[in-house]
Amino acid sequence: MAAIAVYPGSFDPITLGHLDIAARAAKMFDEVHILVVHNPGKEPRFSLEQRVALIEESIAGMRLNAGAKVIVATLPSGLLVDYSHRVGASALVKGIRTNVDLDYELPMARVNRDLADVETIFVPADPSFGHISSSLVKQVADLGGDVAKYVSPPVARALNAH
Ligand code: PNS
Repeated sequence: MAAIAVYPGSFDPITLGHLDIAARAAKMFDEVHILVVHNPGKEPRFSLEQRVALIEESIAGMRLNAGAKVIVATLPSGLLVDYSHRVGASALVKGIRTNVDLDYELPMARVNRDLADVETIFVPADPSFGHISSSLVKQVADLGGDVAKYVSPPVARALNAH
């Protein structure tokens, strides 16, 4: 039976830190769904479709899949665990940069396990990406800074055009 994981997030936009977590998930699972989730608590810069396109452009040409099947999908509404159940995923993957991330993620991991017995795998962010977030990257780009160190070239172009 294939081991399937879902890597969910807003990905508004995807950063090199996110791509590193996705690549590492692809080493552990046969199939990884990078799931772009609508978060009603956040006003997005990019539409769900734009975010999917930026992820697909970012992973094209990268040896991200490590033999795994990588699928990019959206969850405009509904529970993450329902999507996970539909695709037969046994695990959720989350990247952890600091204890702030852990404080935010731990209750969600417990709720997801309560709801559907889905385990969450916390993957420690590589220290070189530990300070990168989508919101910081947007701020730097908006103020005219160079974001090439933080995002893929297609994402940098999209940020500069927005
Ligand atoms: O990148 P983000 O915004 O920190 O990701 C948060 C996200 C999208 C993973 C989280 O909001 C989520 O899981 N949303 C799906 C809705 C859901 O299932 N909620 C209950 C789980 S606690």
